[in-house]
Amino acid sequence: MVTLRKYELADKEQLVKLANNANVSRFLTYLFPFPYTPDDAEWWISTGSSLDGAVSRVVEFNGQFVGGVGLTQLKAWKDHQAEIGYWLGEPYWGRGIATEALKQMTAHAFDVIKVKKLFAPVLKPNIASMRVLEKCGYVREGEFKMEVFKNGQFYDTVQYARLASQ
Ligand SMILES: CC(C)(COP(=O)(O)OP(=O)(O)OC[C@H]1O[C@@H](n2cnc3c(N)ncnc32)[C@H](O)[C@@H]1OP(=O)(O)O)[C@@H](O)C(=O)NCCC(=O)NCCS
Repeated sequence: MVTLRKYELADKEQLVKLANNANVSRFLTYLFPFPYTPDDAEWWISTGSSLDGAVSRVVEFNGQFVGGVGLTQLKAWKDHQAEIGYWLGEPYWGRGIATEALKQMTAHAFDVIKVKKLFAPVLKPNIASMRVLEKCGYVREGEFKMEVFKNGQFYDTVQYARLASQ
């Protein structure tokens, strides 16, 4: 069973264990560094997870910390929109867990936070993530060329989005 809950300081050890993996951070922003140290985990739990009003949740699978999902609302005339993101520790990939976590966070965003549009920019090689979004009712809105520079490489991104009314 997949459930979401708030971060606790006690999550630090498991967060480092799962996050300190180049395969996990490969297509994520520099807010998710590699190597991922205990200091990075402490910063994330105390500060990063709520930065700019972000709503971040631990993903649990059968009561065990397996990853994270979160959203950050945009500002001013785009404050009806939020960017959503997610990750899982590598041992938990391929079991439908991210799909279930994203479904739950999407429902929370629309029903509780009342945002009107959720979007996710995905680096083009990240096919698994695009599939997760599609399974959660997000649609491909467009593509951005040379949008991201990471680890010495430029990436195109594909933007997925879902509207509250859908
Ligand atoms: C992307 C990620 C969240 C997926 O999590 P997951 O729990 O394995 O995803 P799910 O099992 O719910 O679904 C994955 C889907 O992608 C498919 N998939 C996986 N790898 C694939 C590939 N190389 N090509 C095509 N499809 C692929 C799976 O078959 C599955 O689809 P299906 O149910 O139709 O068979 C996980 O790999 C991860 O944490 N990656 C690192 C962080 C990251 O990239 N986050 C997203 C940033 S946008």
